[in-house]
This record gives sequence, C-alpha cells and structure tokens, in this order.
Amino acid sequence: MKSIGIFDSGVGGLTVAREIIRQLPNENIVYFGDTARVPYGIKSRETVVRFSIENILFLLKQDVKLICVACNTASSFALPVIKNNFRVPIIGVITPGVREAVYASQNKRIGVIGTKGTIKSRTYETEIKQLDPKVKVTAAACPLFVPFVEEGWTSGDVVLSVARSYLKPIAEAGVDTVILGCTHYPLLKPVIQGILGKQVTLIDSAKQVAFEVKKILASEDMLNRSRRSGKHKFYVSDNPEWFSSLAQRFMGRKVADVRKVVNV
Ligand code: DGL
Repeated sequence: MKSIGIFDSGVGGLTVAREIIRQLPNENIVYFGDTARVPYGIKSRETVVRFSIENILFLLKQDVKLICVACNTASSFALPVIKNNFRVPIIGVITPGVREAVYASQNKRIGVIGTKGTIKSRTYETEIKQLDPKVKVTAAACPLFVPFVEEGWTSGDVVLSVARSYLKPIAEAGVDTVILGCTHYPLLKPVIQGILGKQVTLIDSAKQVAFEVKKILASEDMLNRSRRSGKHKFYVSDNPEWFSSLAQRFMGRKVADVRKVVNV
C-alpha cells in the first residue's frame, strides 16, 4: 500500500504530520527530516530548491503516492519551481494557509511571519494578492523563534522581549489576521497571541494542509480504504536521537525507531 510522503528541514514538520495522521488515520506515512542540513530558513533559494528535489527523490523511492512539503521555507522557494515536475501530486503549506487567512480577515490587513527565506521569497504576499489584491500584507522574519522552540524556550522574559521586537511592525499595521508561516511557530502561539491581542486570528495551516491532502487523494481515488491504522515511518539525515527527543513536543507523542539515511 502506497504512503503519503512528508518532508521538512527537520523536526518542525511533525506539526503537519500530526494533523495528517489525525485526519487520515488509515494512511501509511513516510516522514523525512533533513536534520543534517537544517536550518533551511537562512539558506539561499538555489540551495533550498536543490535540497527539496533530493528529498522528493528520496521519498519517491519509498513508494509514495503524494508528497507534502511541510516546511514553509521549502514551500516558498521550491514549490513554484518543482510542483509539476514529478509523477505524484506535491502540495505545500503556503496556499492552504493563505486561503484560510484571506477568508478570516475582515479588515483586509494580514500579517505574515516566517523565516528569513520565507519572508524574502514574498511567496505568501504574492499568493495573498492573487486571491485578493485589496489585502495589505505586513511581513516580518522572526529568525530566533526556531532555536527558541527547539531549545524548549516557549515562554519567559527573553522570548517575550524578542517576540515584542519582531512583532512590532505587525502590531502597528493593525492586522486582524496573522499567518504563522513556519513549522515551529504554533508552539509559540500563547506568546504571539499575548503580544498581538485576542482580537487577532492566528492561522496555523496544518489543519488546512491535512484537509487538502485528503481532498486530493479522494479526488484521485487514492485514499486507503483499509480499516487498519496506517504505519508511520520516520527517516532523518542525521542525529535520530535528537529528532526523537524533540518529536514529543511537536507531535504530541513519542516517535521511536527513527532511521538515519546516509545518502539522500
Ligand atoms: N521548517 C522551517 C520552516 O517552516 C523552519 C526551520 C528551518 O529554518 O529549517 O520554514
């Protein structure tokens, strides 16, 4: 039985995997975290595109029927270039988040936060404008959020003060909706919400991404009809122990048996 392939630069994509598993419990999943080359957020477009193609080729060898690019940076830089070049559907995390945000915003002011790469690519902005040219977009890179989350710093004075500084332009722009455009940011939701206020809707695209995966598989008649729970395999390019130890936080459960692959 074919699997759903998911890749991310590391452990963050487990926030998306978790939601796909919740919505599609009978599907087999193959997850690849490129832990040898993380972070993608500070790398060039060219490099992220190359890594993404290599990750896709690895997943295709695992007999996948659809690939989800769970990484926002890879989705921003690589998806527009690669999405129609492979024999399976490839979906990213940008479009589902954009759709939800444009739908949610009443005052047509949307904030986007992400890695340096994601913000530099302007992919979110381009897609928002394509859907509704009247929307005003304010974007901000929050590069320290990823290491904070990986170190388990999701509250406290240091995080709060850095977040206040990053989010200042977003707060000043009077947005009513903010896209959490990075795999790690849902874990900082309480901090971000606290700074921006309850009136701002935070969009975490994982649910919409999983829904999109389901929709595509259904429309192509590729859903697994078996009633048995799917099997989940986890591969990384380095440091499986590190991945396992962080997985609990991102996935909400332990991930044992993480395999290291040498040549992606
Ligand atoms: N997964 C990345 C993203 O969503 C964050 C971590 C990284 O920079 O590789 O953009």
